[in-house]
Amino acid sequence: MKRMIYDGDPGIDDALAIILAIKSGEFDLEAVTTVAGNVSLEKATKNALRILRLTGRLNIPVAAGIPSPFGRGLERAEYVHGDNGLGGTSLPLPGVEDKCIGALDLIIAKIMKKPGEITLVACGPLTNLAEIYMKEPRIGENVRELIIMGGAVQVPGNVTPHAEFNIYTDPESAQIILRSDLPLTIVPLDVTMKTIFTVYDLEQIYEVRTPVAEFAYNALRYYQNIPKHKKLGGCPLHDPLAVGVAIDESFVKTKELYVNVVTDNIITLGKTLVGEKNTGELEVCASKHKVCLEVDARRFIRFFIDTITAD
Ligand code: BDR
Ligand code: CA
Repeated sequence: MKRMIYDGDPGIDDALAIILAIKSGEFDLEAVTTVAGNVSLEKATKNALRILRLTGRLNIPVAAGIPSPFGRGLERAEYVHGDNGLGGTSLPLPGVEDKCIGALDLIIAKIMKKPGEITLVACGPLTNLAEIYMKEPRIGENVRELIIMGGAVQVPGNVTPHAEFNIYTDPESAQIILRSDLPLTIVPLDVTMKTIFTVYDLEQIYEVRTPVAEFAYNALRYYQNIPKHKKLGGCPLHDPLAVGVAIDESFVKTKELYVNVVTDNIITLGKTLVGEKNTGELEVCASKHKVCLEVDARRFIRFFIDTITAD
């Protein structure tokens, strides 16, 4: 079986992404590591534990990473995910928090121990990943692939007109990763904003009476009803799509591009820069990455519903 480490900031869509990874049965989920983003590191870590308890998978290690972005304060997104980060749902917290230390060492150890086997899916700010890469650059040759949810290439941002949340929150760390020669697939807003989970989709989950489906129903209903999603007629499945791409790359079409990010302009901070040649602002890029630009959204949403509602 393929192996995955999920690094994220749960977060409603992170929670659903973790559930998708587990319930797909496609991956041995080797660890869930957390980073400050949508909510504080402490809340993100507790939420990861809540999700593993919900899925009956507390055997999967949870490890906390870095509590704030590189040289910046954290601009959280509780206005999107609710105060507790899980849309006001009240899942019990298992009593194993004191084990939650050391995400960086855990990720490095797991990748280096199983060269070429671990898919690392990162769906929060790239703070942990940049730190890991600086500490142990050989992860580049030893990770199977690295899939990140982040950026906005040909579409507007979702936190400023220019920038997407995960990149905007820690642009310096994002820049380290995007300019690197790590084997990256980037899942930007260009595709995630097309995976709109509608009220009709939600009805199909309502009929299912498992604890996971009940949580998904309540969290997705909350997520659909925040003002910016109401206007869209549903909520985007950002982080679940990144896991979807890890499971089946045919959900998307990719293009090989050089990628960089603006870090030094207050107006365009966090803007994704792409090009086919590494000239100008992209001159500093070590290699091209796979950038997802098209998605079979309905096929992915069908897969998402079927997987999270399965017994
Ligand atoms: C990303 O930002 C967060 O709010 C979501 O969890 C997702 O990772 C979308 O821009
Ligand atoms: Ca996230």
